[in-house]
Amino acid sequence: MDALTVKVAGVEFRNPFLLASGIWGESGASLHRAYVAGAGGVVTKSIGREPRTGYPNPTIERLDDWGLLNAMGLPNPGIKNYAEEVRFALSKGVKVVGSVFGGTPEEFALLSVEMEKLGVGSIELNLSCPHAKGYGSEIGADPELLSEVVRAVKKAVKVPVWAKLTPNTSDPALLAAAAESAGADAISAINTVRALAIDPVGMRPVLYHGLGGLSGPAIKPIGLAFIWQAYEKVRIPLVGIGGITTPEDAFEYLLAGATLLEVGTAVADSGGTVFHTLADGLREILKERGFGNVAEAVGAAHRK
Ligand SMILES: Cc1cc2nc3c(=O)[nH]c(=O)nc-3n(C[C@H](O)[C@H](O)[C@H](O)COP(=O)(O)O)c2cc1C
Repeated sequence: MDALTVKVAGVEFRNPFLLASGIWGESGASLHRAYVAGAGGVVTKSIGREPRTGYPNPTIERLDDWGLLNAMGLPNPGIKNYAEEVRFALSKGVKVVGSVFGGTPEEFALLSVEMEKLGVGSIELNLSCPHAKGYGSEIGADPELLSEVVRAVKKAVKVPVWAKLTPNTSDPALLAAAAESAGADAISAINTVRALAIDPVGMRPVLYHGLGGLSGPAIKPIGLAFIWQAYEKVRIPLVGIGGITTPEDAFEYLLAGATLLEVGTAVADSGGTVFHTLADGLREILKERGFGNVAEAVGAAHRK
């Protein structure tokens, strides 16, 4: 097996770098583009039951070198209209993880069943979007509600279920443990960090929605801390997300305990070439540091 090949809940990925949800995920063609560019797999945009237009502009703002602030409002075409996009990506051999969001456990279960019918290999539950009323972190920051959703989805589908968790909590390990006890096969962390930008000239928030979610280099230490704490609490695989831009960032996430990685803002900034840069760089680092493969490096910083 190649040094970068990773298996999570029985599903194999050719390398640990997946396209994160919400970046290039709008169409089957763009999912395919990320895969051709070198991604180990792709996560779809989070999809709901009905089409949603999301918030009016401005929905996204660059904050210097820190990253991106966004409040999109979960725009998506609805599961029926999105089906063709998933089918297209799958027909090209892309490893697809289907991301869904709902307002109730039943809605999450129904959407997961639809995704499974389309043929995705794994499902990621968006329990963590920080800026959509009644969705995301409003459910996922409550361990009880989070457990209900995971249990409902696990009862409804056979494919592995990943719970994507929010950093906007005082106790990451508690959320991770709740997801694991409810039957989640993996934990993805983190989604964006609640944040705000104010326009001093207009004297109002920069984004239409006001509060948004921060992604990119500024949140890497927060993502690493989440993975570190989750690794000490649960035994299921962890998918590290947040600010991964360089091969060194990726290596740090493995050392903290992540088995797979998702890349968002770096793809938005640099395009798909980042996948080859990350994979080639990580291969070198693993060799230099004496690790035979990704799995050997996972959690190594806890054993020092
Ligand atoms: C413009 C934008 C849209 C996003 N949309 C989604 C989404 O639909 N579902 C989701 O789970 N996460 C979404 N995210 C969060 C990313 O998947 C990821 O968790 C976050 O950006 C941190 O990773 P990064 O620092 O590599 O960007 C979005 C992020 C951005 C910047």
